[in-house]
Amino acid sequence: MKQDSPRHTVVVWDLPTRLFHWSLALCFALLWATGEVGGLDFVVPLPGGKTWFITNMDLHMWLGQAVLALVVFRVLWGLWGSSPSRFRSFVRGPGAAYRHFVQLMRGAVPAGIGHNPAGGLAIVAMLVLLFLQAGTGLFANDEIYSEGPLAHLVSSEISTRLTDLHGAVFDVLLAFVALHVAAVLYYLLRGKNLIAPMLHGRQTLPAAGEGATLYHAPLTRALLFFGAAVLAVWSLHWW
Ligand code: HEM
Repeated sequence: MKQDSPRHTVVVWDLPTRLFHWSLALCFALLWATGEVGGLDFVVPLPGGKTWFITNMDLHMWLGQAVLALVVFRVLWGLWGSSPSRFRSFVRGPGAAYRHFVQLMRGAVPAGIGHNPAGGLAIVAMLVLLFLQAGTGLFANDEIYSEGPLAHLVSSEISTRLTDLHGAVFDVLLAFVALHVAAVLYYLLRGKNLIAPMLHGRQTLPAAGEGATLYHAPLTRALLFFGAAVLAVWSLHWW
């Protein structure tokens, strides 16, 4: 779809990318709370006087699988989604990231559509870490009464090692997320608001004609990809 407006405002982040991002951020916060703090147990009243007891760990495992589905969806969207969300439009080498930093150090905030080269690398790193985090969680156990849906496939020794890795990856992920939020706030202080486009999707561009060739993939494709991602994660329970 072509974007052509006199104010040079284009839709840079489509609805699927924005929903992905804020669902991920919410899941991450809840995973942190259920994983590190705990105590989020619920009793859900059911018809017939019965009750459904949802433990903190149940919630943690559901959220972890939701993150896995979100990451699988984002990989599909990064390959065949809207152009600004595709990996090939924002994944650059370390050289480009370095040049971006040099420009920042010289006081310039580089313009451009979508993720900058440094942000692009950080995003790929976060997706890989999230995949590792959720993937190791599938095999983890809490040494009391909860274990991930695939823990029965490995020995208890391997499950314990993967549980340790699950904790270690989280610390690295947390550092990346902190850096990510700090970078977003830094840009805000330097006059470039990246948060608003991630909320409403639109970005105003300085140069006329810029962004005229953006491609927006149909929502039905996003739904198909999301359905496939949920099914892929759900199918892990049949192993
Ligand atoms: C209050 C917290 C957060 C804010 C304000 C925020 C803000 C943003 C913004 C503004 C962008 C777009 C950056 C750009 O224009 O290049 C972005 C992208 C991204 N953020 Fe966050 N973020 C937050 C939390 C998180 C968390 C907790 C995670 C991961 C656990 C995360 C992962 C990502 C990813 C993967 C992208 C790339 C989105 C895509 O291309 O699909 N963010 N974030």
